[in-house]
Amino acid sequence: MTLFSAATVRRLLANTSSSSNFLHYARRHLSSTTPVSNFDKLGCIGLGLMGHGIAQTAAMVAAKDNVHSSIIAFESDQKFLDSGRDRIQKSVDKLVSKEKLTSSQADALMGKITFTTDRDALNDTDLIVEAIIENMDLKKQLYSDLGQQCKPETVFASNTSSLSITQMAEASGRPEKFVGIHFFNPVQIMKLVEVIKTEYTDPTVFDNTVKWVDQIGKVAVKCGDTPGFIVNRLLVPNLIQAMLMLERGDATTHDIDISMQLGAGNPMGPLHLADYVGLDTCLFIMQGWVNDFPEERAFVVLRC
Ligand code: CAA
Repeated sequence: MTLFSAATVRRLLANTSSSSNFLHYARRHLSSTTPVSNFDKLGCIGLGLMGHGIAQTAAMVAAKDNVHSSIIAFESDQKFLDSGRDRIQKSVDKLVSKEKLTSSQADALMGKITFTTDRDALNDTDLIVEAIIENMDLKKQLYSDLGQQCKPETVFASNTSSLSITQMAEASGRPEKFVGIHFFNPVQIMKLVEVIKTEYTDPTVFDNTVKWVDQIGKVAVKCGDTPGFIVNRLLVPNLIQAMLMLERGDATTHDIDISMQLGAGNPMGPLHLADYVGLDTCLFIMQGWVNDFPEERAFVVLRC
């Protein structure tokens, strides 16, 4: 049942910045009237912390709204493929136990995903979202291989949190069909997705990617290929400041975290969040920025 015309919804959205349930409904309503992306068959490479959440989120809408005919979830190692599948299954089982999904909806969701260690299964996908380890050499090699094996129309997207999208795009041999699609942890819950374009990205490919993000129920923001994009550029220095504060003995872990929760409305304190994101990930992002942008004043605080 439609309660509001698209024009009314647009006017209401323009006149308010609150995030009420009504607005959530309104945004979904509005997006259901926008054109859809042309990405049918989806590939997901890497089923770790981020990748399993991306595959699950896409499978959820594939099962419900038929956004994708199928999702090919790829890991090169059977052990990691199995653990990725287990992670998704556990998360889906939890939703069933909370009565947010029925058993048959859960089965339909899992049925949308083909788990494989055969990379050729990705050849005829329309969009591939990669979430492998943050190693530029590995990513470049992967994209060089994918560029040769996939059909020419396949769009590639990296979920990297801080590496250069441009460098990966160049390695792929199809830079105009390359974007960044950056999700947040936990992917199933966090609404935001950063969509990143390089100077090579075809505007139609970029628009389609933004539409796809909307189709899977997330909110897209657009960003150029700048270090850390929007969120990490602002967030990571904040996390590092909390670590330096602790190191100097200015305040305890508990007091730093509770301050940012109760004083700034953050859902998690910065030290808890750094641990949640992964201290190794924070260190990797930080070292990369310091090495690649030694003249950037914003990263001077990170030198250690
Ligand atoms: N998978 C699926 N669902 C999850 C989940 C997960 N990993 N973690 C929590 N949830 C669900 C819970 O089941 C719960 O669902 P219901 O409301 O249906 O019961 C809901 O999320 C809330 O969880 P909790 O009640 O357990 O706890 P909470 O209210 O404290 O929320 C949180 C947990 C969503 C993680 C919240 O603390 C939060 O938003 N933290 C900040 C997370 C954040 O900032 N992430 C971005 C990090 S930066 C990044 O990811 C980018 C990068 O490149 C480094």
